Amino acid sequence: MAKERLLEGRVALITGASRGIGAATARLLASHGAAVGINYYKSTNEAKKIAEEIVADGGRSVTVRANVRSADEVTGMVELVEADLGPIDLLVLNAGKTIRFAPALDFKFEDLQNTIADELKGAHYAVQAVVPGMVARRKGTIVAVSSTASRYQWEGSMAHSMAKAALDSYVRSLALELGPFNVRANLIAPGLTITDAISPSSKAHTDAVARNTPLRRNASPEDVAGAILMVSSDNAAFVSGAYIPVSGGLNMG
Ligand SMILES: NC(=O)c1ccc[n+]([C@@H]2O[C@H](COP(=O)([O-])OP(=O)(O)OC[C@H]3O[C@@H](n4cnc5c(N)ncnc54)[C@H](OP(=O)(O)O)[C@@H]3O)[C@@H](O)[C@H]2O)c1
Repeated sequence: MAKERLLEGRVALITGASRGIGAATARLLASHGAAVGINYYKSTNEAKKIAEEIVADGGRSVTVRANVRSADEVTGMVELVEADLGPIDLLVLNAGKTIRFAPALDFKFEDLQNTIADELKGAHYAVQAVVPGMVARRKGTIVAVSSTASRYQWEGSMAHSMAKAALDSYVRSLALELGPFNVRANLIAPGLTITDAISPSSKAHTDAVARNTPLRRNASPEDVAGAILMVSSDNAAFVSGAYIPVSGGLNMG
């Protein structure tokens, strides 16, 4: 039986889609029929390769280099994607940044401020460029990639946890205020997921997390992409303002 294509005719923009969770999401959403805008910053070759794979499979895709923390670059990116693929009706806020872990008392105020600001810039500039179109068309879905760190601190995670908690609050406000325009907003909160971002973690640490996880393994980028697909499709048409941990049961929301 043919696989049901859950996003036929949709146009998605995924920030930070050259590697890791964003790359897996680009591939999965495209396999479900979405035309996919692949944003990247430094990994040009990786981004182009994903777009080429999607096109070779009969899909539509465009790659756009932009720093999600530059309002001008984000505006230009959205114009380019919409000119090429059509109006964006699915926005995935995923692009991450290198996380600095340190004891709570070692963070300077500016470290906390900058970490929170970078997280919110990565969300708000894209939302400002994309969402007015969704509101005008009375149709749209926003999915933000948070982290279980927003609700479950660990030693050293203060700045990162605060930034993701701010993102959670931001997205809940979007869900509240955009709902009347048929625009949904949800949070996907991965636990530790095997990507380049966790390369500083030792194998002993990732194994320990797997042992403590009810499903007894670490998450793959594809696990997170699956949850993003789930809240993006019309099967979740009445789901908005949700926070969905993807942690194998380790953190339960
Ligand atoms: N991995 C985990 O354990 C984990 C857990 C919880 C939450 N998350 C969240 O999941 C998201 C993705 O993380 P990941 O693990 O997939 O990271 P990753 O493998 O390191 O990939 C990061 C992606 O973000 C892009 N990026 C970084 N800075 C950017 C910028 N200024 N503008 C545009 N793109 C930028 C990178 O693009 P280039 O390479 O092209 O620069 C890359 O595609 C992040 O929001 C992260 O906080 C991850």
